[in-house]
Amino acid sequence: MCVLAMTEVAQIVRRRQRRRRRVGIAYDTAVEVAGLIPRNTRLLDVGCGEGFVAHHLTALLGTNVIGVDLAKTTDAQIEYLSYDGTRIPVTDHSFDGVLLSYVLHHVQDIHIVLSEVRRVVRNGGLVVVYEDIPKDWRDRFPCWAHDMKWRRRVGPCTFRRPPEWEELFNSYGLEIQSEHQISRWRDIFHPIGHTLYVLKANGKTKSKKMYLTS
Ligand SMILES: C[S@@+](CC[C@H](N)C(=O)[O-])C[C@H]1O[C@@H](n2cnc3c(N)ncnc32)[C@H](O)[C@@H]1O
Repeated sequence: MCVLAMTEVAQIVRRRQRRRRRVGIAYDTAVEVAGLIPRNTRLLDVGCGEGFVAHHLTALLGTNVIGVDLAKTTDAQIEYLSYDGTRIPVTDHSFDGVLLSYVLHHVQDIHIVLSEVRRVVRNGGLVVVYEDIPKDWRDRFPCWAHDMKWRRRVGPCTFRRPPEWEELFNSYGLEIQSEHQISRWRDIFHPIGHTLYVLKANGKTKSKKMYLTS
């Protein structure tokens, strides 16, 4: 009985620690993103997950950051929109910026998502992308483990190389303004090479794969 109670307490403590770690990492991400975009930017966090990054950014940017994802609800108290992965339920060019934080390797149809991102961001707006980009043998196991963890929830991951990302972004009228390598050790539980891209929505999409326009 006593052992059972102790196991339960240990589980609760572990769950809380994990949650606090995720909230802390989200805070660091939010501080970094807030340093890249002006205050009062109307920002859409696509693939916001638990919504902690959007929650912190709402305070840091002094604006209501809206989160959108596939789940029905989110954990943090943010303005949240659920969607089915096809059409983001907002009007064309209604945001100054879009955040895609560790989302793109999870999406099952990259063309739909990039086309939607380009549709909702205004011309001249910014798109901030964090991506897992495997570089060498050290990334193999963490990428495999990450894929195993996520494929049951949203499907298999697709990890791409920098030239592929550049081509994809360009084809949707998203021009790379800056590119910054992030240490694999930023999150010791997820030791994959990461890149932070800042993209500018410059003009028309060149991709023939335009799915949803209004
Ligand atoms: C690793 S989590 C990242 C969550 C959050 N952005 C963060 O940085 O903490 C990946 C998220 O992408 C979401 N996702 C997967 N496919 C998506 C799609 N087609 N459209 C929007 N979000 C998607 C998943 O539901 C999941 O919440």
